[in-house]
Amino acid sequence: MAFCPSPSSSSSSSDSSSSSSSPFESSNSAKFWILHGIMAGVAVAAAVGARAYWTRVKKFRNRVVGIIPARFASTRFQGKPLVEILGKPMIQRTWERAKLAATLDQVVVATDDEKIAECCRKFGADVVMTSESCRNGTERCSEALEKLGKNYDIVVNIQGDEPLIEPEIIDGIVKALQATPDAVFSTAVTSLKPEDALDPNRVKCVVDNRGYAIYFSRGLIPFNKSGKVNQQFPYLLHLGIQSYDTKFLKIYPDLQPTPLQLEEDLEQLKVLENGYKMKVIKVNHEAHGVDIPEDVQKIESLMRERNLS
Ligand SMILES: *[C@@H]1O[C@H](CO)[C@@H](O)[C@H](O)[C@H]1NC(C)=O
Ligand SMILES: *[C@@H]1O[C@H](CO)[C@@H](O)[C@H](O)[C@H]1NC(C)=O
Repeated sequence: MAFCPSPSSSSSSSDSSSSSSSPFESSNSAKFWILHGIMAGVAVAAAVGARAYWTRVKKFRNRVVGIIPARFASTRFQGKPLVEILGKPMIQRTWERAKLAATLDQVVVATDDEKIAECCRKFGADVVMTSESCRNGTERCSEALEKLGKNYDIVVNIQGDEPLIEPEIIDGIVKALQATPDAVFSTAVTSLKPEDALDPNRVKCVVDNRGYAIYFSRGLIPFNKSGKVNQQFPYLLHLGIQSYDTKFLKIYPDLQPTPLQLEEDLEQLKVLENGYKMKVIKVNHEAHGVDIPEDVQKIESLMRERNLS
């Protein structure tokens, strides 16, 4: 895997010129200059050190773009990205959250719809138009990346229907992928609520002891031989946010569908079935995905409760 060493963001200003209202100045000037010299030296050394440190820790997969795929036509919820949540379009809320993520160099909305594009440009988002033939968010991200024509190392696929996504979760999966060279994909899970255990729309995940995904299922995994939900077991719920190595994203849509992917109707299984590694982080997040029109009221009342605006 080839990657260019970063043109390191040199924010390391070695400006050590202290404001000279110092009481030393008139009396003991030789001593002052020696002291000043030492301090300047220390500052320069620190700046050089910090720079070396940053280029070292940041060089792997350090160019990151967040893409919010958004389509107008949806079988379950027509025009979903533009639905207003407490007076603001849902896509804008998602975008505002994403903009707060420190690891993203750019955030773009990828859409096939002119109404969505126009709305997003109005609130200041970068927009990439993608074709209507994209079958899902991953393909839309892949096409958007190509059209952007920039050399990003990581694409974060930020679902437009999670308007309360925490920027820390975005940063978390990016850092996980940067720290795990043998993984091509990273994603997040949170604790599964017992009442969601048997809901096939809540996707469950099991991971190994180093945090790599073993499997995802719409059924409850692991299965307890009693046939019941084990209230003591820390089941994991998959959150719909993922990041990919861009080299992998270029081949991902073209990988043939796999048996487990088709049977569970879970796109991410194709990654595992082809033998690629996926890193999973655990986060605290109450999922409030907006899938159907009724979810809007739910999320609004929750936001009022918590004084979120
Ligand atoms: C299954 O669940 C029960 C609680 O419902 C728990 O006590 C038990 O350890 C679990 N595992 C097995 C193998 O029974
Ligand atoms: C979604 O995208 C993936 C990867 O791009 C593709 O392999 C898969 O077949 C698509 N799923 C559907 C339902 O079209």
